[in-house]
Amino acid sequence: MDKKKLEIDIGDIRLKNPIICGSAEHFIEKAGIMNAINMGAAAVVAKSSNESNVAKIQLDKTDYSLIDSKLDNINWKEKKDIDTSLFGRSGLIQLETEEWLNKISILDNEAAKENAFVIASLIPSNLDCLIKYAEIANNLGIRILEVNIGAPHGVELDEEIKIIRKEDIVKEIVKNVRDVFKGSLWIKIAGVTENVIEISAASKEQGADAVVMIGRMMAMIPDIESMDPILGTNGAYGGRWALPITCRWLSETRKMLGNEYPLIGTNGVRSGEDVVRMILSGATAVEMTSAIFMDGFDVIPKTLHQLSSYLDRKNASIKDIIGITADRVKSYGEQEIRPNYWKKFVPDDSLN
Ligand SMILES: Cc1cc2nc3c(=O)[nH]c(=O)nc-3n(C[C@H](O)[C@H](O)[C@H](O)COP(=O)(O)O)c2cc1C
Repeated sequence: MDKKKLEIDIGDIRLKNPIICGSAEHFIEKAGIMNAINMGAAAVVAKSSNESNVAKIQLDKTDYSLIDSKLDNINWKEKKDIDTSLFGRSGLIQLETEEWLNKISILDNEAAKENAFVIASLIPSNLDCLIKYAEIANNLGIRILEVNIGAPHGVELDEEIKIIRKEDIVKEIVKNVRDVFKGSLWIKIAGVTENVIEISAASKEQGADAVVMIGRMMAMIPDIESMDPILGTNGAYGGRWALPITCRWLSETRKMLGNEYPLIGTNGVRSGEDVVRMILSGATAVEMTSAIFMDGFDVIPKTLHQLSSYLDRKNASIKDIIGITADRVKSYGEQEIRPNYWKKFVPDDSLN
């Protein structure tokens, strides 16, 4: 495999492959971050941070469960399959944000030796604090900053983890962060919103280098034996079922923002073939999180291997295939008219 086939560009940033590890608990400590880099990830988004004490305390209230395709809660150690979903409550980094950014800058320097990146992630609570931290990240020389304006837990903690859905507020945030952060700025967008395209456009207009879409959904899952909610609360829910939804947002956003603007897909990638699905939908790279959280770091080389095999089979590079399927999506209006065709699909006894 020619390694150049995996390379992609996000603005001025060249990634050696499109696998970015999305932020989560396995990237709170140095071991997890460096493990992912050593296993071949092009970049790791370190666990998110902000100034809120409530969000820090929330890390001590986390819980996670695996949900199988029958919607039953399965044991964490049980064998998971590709359709196992992850449901849980998360919190944010407990170190002071400044200290955490300091650590990230050191890890980003180490990652650079492997031709990789460690990305800082901030979640808005107070706008002035967000700008202050973005400036600190800039002064520390951190090369990529992701601002997650759509963390699902914001539905439960709306002052401490803000979900920004209004385009004018997105513009204000991106503009202010852009003013102080000169590296590559990525904006991660909520799954719990309908205006993903408009938010992407607002982010692009104010100078974001890429948008990441889409965050997980909030859910509630009844346990039918105990009749209690699984984990006792609502929680963020993600699984492979979400991949086609992300793919549609990628393809629709590509249509509006143009082929050149980098989109990063997240939510539902479980294999190299899933990475291909997002790339064909218009993503330049993907953020993969739950698959590694559930199954460990070996998932990274396995995914890279599957991706390389696909590219070899198609005799293509990643850059060659970005958006191919997205550009073939037709509108409903373009479909031919086929009277009574629906009759092929309904049960026989629903027809006269
Ligand atoms: C346990 C857990 C914790 C997460 N924490 C964060 C976080 O702190 N910041 C963030 O931007 N995304 C966070 N995410 C979201 C992931 O980065 C990712 O976007 C999402 O899980 C969808 O991708 P996946 O299907 O590959 O898991 C978290 C996800 C999980 C499962």
